Amino acid sequence: MEPHLQGEEEETLVQLSTDRRFPPIDLPAPEEAATLEPFSGSEGYQSLTQSAPFLDEDFVQTPKAGAQQGWRRWINDASGGLVTLGPSASEAESTALLERVRTPLTGCRRIVVLSRKGGVGKTSVTLGLGHTFATLRPDRVVALDANPDVGTLGYRIAGLPGRTLTELLDDAEQITRYSEVRKYTTQASSRLEVIASDDDARITRGVGEHEYQAAVDVLERHYNLLLTDTGTDITHSIIQGILAGADQVVLVAAPSLDGARAASKTFDWLEQNGHGYLVRGSVVVLNGVRRRMLVDLDRLAAHFAARSRAVVPLPWDRHLEAGAQTSLEDLHPSTRAAYVQVAAAVADGFGPAH
Ligand SMILES: Nc1ncnc2c1ncn2[C@@H]1O[C@H](COP(=O)(O)OP(=O)(O)OP(=O)(O)O)[C@@H](O)[C@H]1O
Ligand SMILES: [Mg+2]
Repeated sequence: MEPHLQGEEEETLVQLSTDRRFPPIDLPAPEEAATLEPFSGSEGYQSLTQSAPFLDEDFVQTPKAGAQQGWRRWINDASGGLVTLGPSASEAESTALLERVRTPLTGCRRIVVLSRKGGVGKTSVTLGLGHTFATLRPDRVVALDANPDVGTLGYRIAGLPGRTLTELLDDAEQITRYSEVRKYTTQASSRLEVIASDDDARITRGVGEHEYQAAVDVLERHYNLLLTDTGTDITHSIIQGILAGADQVVLVAAPSLDGARAASKTFDWLEQNGHGYLVRGSVVVLNGVRRRMLVDLDRLAAHFAARSRAVVPLPWDRHLEAGAQTSLEDLHPSTRAAYVQVAAAVADGFGPAH
């Protein structure tokens, strides 16, 4: 007797195929049905529905996205779902901003914070961006102090001090698990992890291109976001290693003539040394290291907007000025908001890795 679909099963399938909650299922042609095993339990159904993935939204009625904040949310809740007021403009805006910061990532993204001028805020931007990503994204985020001079990143976060970059390099071959690499990082309450540079006078071995690459080889196996803080000497060999593997650059410019000129010259150097794509894909942070702004910020922003992918101003912040340990909670709300804008602008560039 030819195996074929029994009355009841066929009925179920017909009902499924017409029910609007279920994706249309194309019933097999009789000659094909004839070759199928009699319908017994799931495997028959699976073979029939192979083409239709099992999507939540096909089976669950998702409530309309109403306001999640403020008086609109209160009315929605108070109405027991009878009323669904949409989000306010500002709520919609911050939701969109968060979605940008949370742009999905595969693998490890290497972001380099640069400027040929000292004291413009490279370390403060690395820190704020790292805290913001670690707070808003599920990813593991690590910031590496690759400043061959006296790097300060390790001093700017509170937490059990980890070992340093040089120690990580000494043990690199033995480090295979995340729990092992964690011994070399200091983790802040934001979840950001930092690997400090060495400023021990007894250490004479400098960290150059190959050492930096060896450190990145270890870190990119355990972290999705790798931020590198740098020094000012763009001709130092370590910069070769840093730029060779960089996916994106964050250029920090102080809104002063000399600060802006040095930043522009950093772009010139990158373009003249084969890194023009990093300039075009870069985010420029106009960082208010000085309280008083003596230059025309809009014109400065326009200058850098013509050479980069995005320009974001970061306001002067009393807490940052101290150069002390910094967490996001310490900062003025407008500084925190500016760091989220920087993070969103950087995340907009999370396309395919370089
Ligand atoms: N937005 C800001 N508002 C106020 N002070 C700031 C701001 N950004 C940075 N600073 C302060 O300016 C000084 C220089 O900043 P930072 O150390 O981040 O610069 P840097 O470019 O990393 O310097 P270096 O070249 O020495 O590594 C620090 O004391 C820092 O705390
Ligand atoms: Mg620094």
